[in-house]
Amino acid sequence: MILTNHQLQTLNTFGIAVSAQYFVSIETKETLLQLIATEAFQTAPHLVLGGGSNVLFTENFKGYILHNQLKGITILDHSTESVLVKAMSGENWHSFVEYCIEHNWGGVENLSLIPGTVGAAPIQNIGAYGVEVKDVIQTVEAIDLRTGIHRQFTAKECAFGYRESIFKTQYKNQYFITAVTFRLQPQPQQFELSYAAMRETLQSTNYMGEGCLNVRAVSEAVCHIRRTKLPDPTVLGNGGSFFKNPEVDSTFFAQLQQQYPTIPHYPISPQKIKIPAAWLIEQCGWKGKRVGNAGTHQNHALVLVNYGGATGSEIAAVASLIQASVVQKFNIHIQSEVNIIG
Ligand code: EPU
Repeated sequence: MILTNHQLQTLNTFGIAVSAQYFVSIETKETLLQLIATEAFQTAPHLVLGGGSNVLFTENFKGYILHNQLKGITILDHSTESVLVKAMSGENWHSFVEYCIEHNWGGVENLSLIPGTVGAAPIQNIGAYGVEVKDVIQTVEAIDLRTGIHRQFTAKECAFGYRESIFKTQYKNQYFITAVTFRLQPQPQQFELSYAAMRETLQSTNYMGEGCLNVRAVSEAVCHIRRTKLPDPTVLGNGGSFFKNPEVDSTFFAQLQQQYPTIPHYPISPQKIKIPAAWLIEQCGWKGKRVGNAGTHQNHALVLVNYGGATGSEIAAVASLIQASVVQKFNIHIQSEVNIIG
């Protein structure tokens, strides 16, 4: 069924009150294929909407919003070395993580509590606390929205990078991801604990002792850290990190470090250094600052928030002001991670 002028406010985590000219709930692949076969669809813009946690609508959407509701989780293979599990793309990401934790499968516990759907995870290669989803993706299945042809991508073909994949570049808006297959660890013994905050949290809950550590404990530590630092989108509209952390070359970084000796940084390669965008933004005086109903969060400068009743354009305008401040002070361009529509 095609709904017209459908309100999207509860379907995007910024809580922006915009509508979709046409709105279709995709519960089966057949519904999608029938729609793709119509001329009306082929001649109009379209956008696949999952959890709505990485989009900022700046105006009403003219065209089709495809609301992904494909559900189901299947175990394809289970051996002593690995588990292959296929999740349909409309599954909620954190519910999928919970499912893996209940089965004591390792690989996604550091990605607990990330908003959004399974289908959105490979698009921007979601990552947190030293793990990126590309580390556990085996294949991505998708339907070409121009032809209806089904295609399976290997992880290599997805061309994953930091918050990047082929679905954000060459194939932007071209494919509807239908399912993702993950390769997980059946009896995990080792965990990614390179973040000091993770070790501290686990120590304070006495989980660091020998034999005590498990996927559940790691997941709970991640949830605890995220709840302390990041605003809950159901309480305060936001889209997580609004910008990517910029990578700069090491010569440029050396000059910057002379001027700002305490600048936090992470080496990516001998030539490339990553700098937290949150630090750059905070140094520009933007942390917790409001412009009308939009601004940054008081606990995390990288999170832009809708303080209530903001339009998408107001939030996008604040984002542009922040980018300009960071260029002016540091000569670094920070790129949006959130998909700005309109
Ligand atoms: N910092 C500040 N001011 C702030 C917040 C942080 O100066 O207001 C500095 C601190 O030095 C801190 C550093 O920034 O040590 C990094 O902060 P944090 O550990 O919170 O991580 P992040 O780099 O801001 C990234 C991801 C998050 C992910 C965390 C944890 C990006 C764009 N963001 O944030 O992902 O949860 O690391 O791994 O890479 C998301 O993509 O939506 C997201 C939340």
